[in-house]
Parts: sequence; C-alpha cells; structure tokens
Amino acid sequence: MQAIARAQPNIALIKYWGKRDRALNLPAVGSISITLADLYTDMDVKFDAALAADRLTLNGDEEAAMLPRVSRCLDTVAGSGRAAARVESHSNFPVAAGLASSASAFAALVVAASGAAGGQRPTDELARLAGRASGSAARSLYGGFVELGLNGDGIEVATLLAAEAWPLAVVVAVTDTGAKPVGSGDAMEISRRTSPFYGRWIDDQPRDLATARAAILARDLEALGVVAEHNCLKMHSVMWSSRPPIVYWNAATLACMHAVRELRSSGVGAFFTIDAGPQVKAVCPGADAPRVRAAFESIPGVAAVLTSGLGGGARLTARR
Ligand code: PMV
Repeated sequence: MQAIARAQPNIALIKYWGKRDRALNLPAVGSISITLADLYTDMDVKFDAALAADRLTLNGDEEAAMLPRVSRCLDTVAGSGRAAARVESHSNFPVAAGLASSASAFAALVVAASGAAGGQRPTDELARLAGRASGSAARSLYGGFVELGLNGDGIEVATLLAAEAWPLAVVVAVTDTGAKPVGSGDAMEISRRTSPFYGRWIDDQPRDLATARAAILARDLEALGVVAEHNCLKMHSVMWSSRPPIVYWNAATLACMHAVRELRSSGVGAFFTIDAGPQVKAVCPGADAPRVRAAFESIPGVAAVLTSGLGGGARLTARR
C-alpha cells in the first residue's frame, strides 16, 4: 500500500508546444528529449483508508495548489474508487529553477502510485498516464535520448539511445527563480489560437524530429546542436508572435545564448536550449561542462548554475 519511486527531469531538444486535445492533454507534435541523471524527485505514495482526503507535501511543506492535479493523476492510476493517499515529494533541485519539475514529479508519481496500488503496469502505459498529467512527464519514464511520437489517439514513447552510449552533460544557467508569468498549458493554447506561425511550427516538426533522430543515432553533436537551437528558437518565435506575446526571456537569458555561441567558436562543442522559462540549458560533452559552467557563472544575472549528466528512466525504489 506504500511505494517510493524516483524520476529525473528531462530537457527537450525538439520541443513539444501545442496540444491536439486539451482534455486528454495530447501533444500536437512529437518531441525528443534527454533525461538527466543528477537532479531527481523522490515520490512516496501511501494509500490509507483512514485518511479522509488526499494530502500532498513538497519538500516537507503542505502544498494545496498542486493537490487537485495530483489527485486526478492518482485516480487515473489507481481508479476513482481508491483510498485517499498521503503523497510526499522531495526534489534535490529548486522547483522554481524552471527544470520541468512537473516532469520528474508526475513520472515518479505514476510509478509510485502504481506500485502502491499493487500493480505491475508496463512502462508504456505509465508513460501515457504521466503524459495525461504533464505532457513532458511521459518522457521521464525513459532514460537517455527519448522520443515521444504521436500514434492515432495516443502517444508512444521510447528510448532512441541509452544515456551511457553518448555521455553528454547539461549545464543549466538559472537566470530567474520567480514564478512564470504564464504556465505552459495556457501559453500553448494562446499560441494555437493566435500565432500566425503556429501552423508552420506544427507542419515542420516531423522534419526536425527526423534530423535530430539521425544526429543522435550517429552521435553527431554539431548536427544535433544546429537542429535543436533552430527548433528552440522556432518555438520561442511562435510564443513571441502570439497575442498577447509570451516572452519568457530576460537579459541574462540572451547573454547566456551568446556565451554558448562564443564558446562554440572557440572550439567547445556546446549548444543551447530554452523551455517555457528564462533558464538556459547548454548541452555539451561531459569534459566541456566545466568551461560552460565557468562562462555562465561570469554572466551578470545568473543566480545559480547546475550541472548534470544523462541518466535512466523513472523507477520504483521501495515498496512496503
Ligand atoms: O509538459 P508541460 O506542459 O510542462 O510542457 C512542456 C513544454 C516545454 O518544456 C516548453 C517543451 C518540452 O517539450 O518539454
């Protein structure tokens, strides 16, 4: 009746932006991501018939805002007739760091809830349930380089290349720890309704996915960097051209992007990507991570720098 699971955040290299079905939370486009190793969320779920209602704590503090989403996710895993649950979430990275904490949280939640409910659900089914709660969470069920594809009325997620097969690092420049001006779900909807570039974004995605997939299988960092930066800037162009415009960047975001380009011209194999927030994530060979980190640390406005390798998918760590 109690289980603990661990999952890491993932960073999209070919981005998901836009929903095909808002009720089912189905993405409008496929995506490719890398699962991190060193940042994680541990989720402890205990179904307890003595509890009157679900309870959620984040790093020890009672959390009301996220509770309805967590309860709905528990219903999809354990059924709406389930006992109430006590859910404790612990992350070893700042939740406000714009690191897709919802991805690691919901990936860990479905694995822990399924374990606590006594089931042995296959990973692809858990990925679909995590994706219902947070689109990007489906990818954190898998490790390494992960592709999320569209399949009829659903999604299918699979590892393209294991983390150990290409030991890259991700260096994150945290440029703002405040809450986002607009959450990704609402922002995607604004883009779908109002950006003149939205249709083109959707139409071009299969080509970017194919280019990135080939670059990953060939372990070609330069080719992967070109398509990943292009895809990221296209997604942000869709955001900027929405009405009202959705602009997540600040001055330090832009300075970090320039720093990555300068590093590249001095021989460091690094490229950047940016999600629905102002943080910049540089992807580089593990050996180059200290240089990227030093460059980010010297930029005014960078509040913190985090580094991680690539790691595995969500997994059960204890069951009682
Ligand atoms: O899973 P959500 O709803 O937080 O959306 C994630 C959207 C991006 O992070 C911007 C891109 C992605 O593919 O992760």
